[in-house]
Amino acid sequence: MRAKQISGKFPSGKIGEEEAVSYLKEQSLYEELLSIARSQGDRIKPKFRDLARLHSIVRQRKCLTVLEFGVGFSTLVLADALQKNKTDWAEADDLPEIREAFPFSLHSVDSGDKWIEATKNILTDRLKDLVQFYNSPVKVDHFNGKMCHFYEQLPDVVPDFIYIDGPDPATVKGEINGQSWNNPARVVMSADLLLIEPFLMPGTLVLFDGRTLNARFLASHIYRNWDIYRTEGTDVTAMELCEMPLGQLNLNLMKYQLGDSIHKWSEPLNRLKEK
Ligand SMILES: C[S@@+](CC[C@H](N)C(=O)[O-])C[C@H]1O[C@@H](n2cnc3c(N)ncnc32)[C@H](O)[C@@H]1O
Repeated sequence: MRAKQISGKFPSGKIGEEEAVSYLKEQSLYEELLSIARSQGDRIKPKFRDLARLHSIVRQRKCLTVLEFGVGFSTLVLADALQKNKTDWAEADDLPEIREAFPFSLHSVDSGDKWIEATKNILTDRLKDLVQFYNSPVKVDHFNGKMCHFYEQLPDVVPDFIYIDGPDPATVKGEINGQSWNNPARVVMSADLLLIEPFLMPGTLVLFDGRTLNARFLASHIYRNWDIYRTEGTDVTAMELCEMPLGQLNLNLMKYQLGDSIHKWSEPLNRLKEK
């Protein structure tokens, strides 16, 4: 395992409820979220602390391409943050030269139409064009002989931020040797990150909402130089791909997004030699 466990604050740090509500009010999102929640009745309610954290991460890191597993209120909040990043980019004087196939886009994957349709309906015209939805079944499989599951279809993008808050375990299809997710006691075990890990760019951030056992599984199978953050008292795990830039365009983007923080990262090849 190449992951380094860090007991740092950012980006999985604790946010108070009041702080979250006041952040979402500043962003003109709070009333909108409340009114959607009222119209959805007794469904899952918005979790303001998680949503404020998500929004502030995408804004602080100036994310361009976001991949989300598990649609819902988070889709609206992520799209809003990307739209604000887009406005900042359009208004900036000194823009870096970068290579980005789908800038300012959110790719949201879910394992059924029901919540995709419901989420489409909560997006205003201002945000609709930024989001692409993907309906994909989730199937049982294994990775290195260990039982897990994969979405069958993934968006063909290279994201700089990945939010893992899906699938709903009840939607995982199939079984291996009598083991399945028909048993409600079995926790989710997505392995999609392992499939796409080889081509993720240095600087990519992955955030898990809950799914702690899943995050531990991934931490013991990833092979690149990730720093892993988990803060006591939160149910969030963050993994940051801390590797030196690949070339000038990647460096330009990383400097634009992350500023000086990239200097703490060491060259991955040196780390491999040390092992
Ligand atoms: C943990 S929820 C995802 C929630 C979403 N990321 C959010 O922050 O609102 C997991 C699954 O529940 C479904 N879902 C989405 N919004 C929901 C809601 N308000 N009530 C019940 N189920 C929901 C979707 O199929 C989603 O993949």
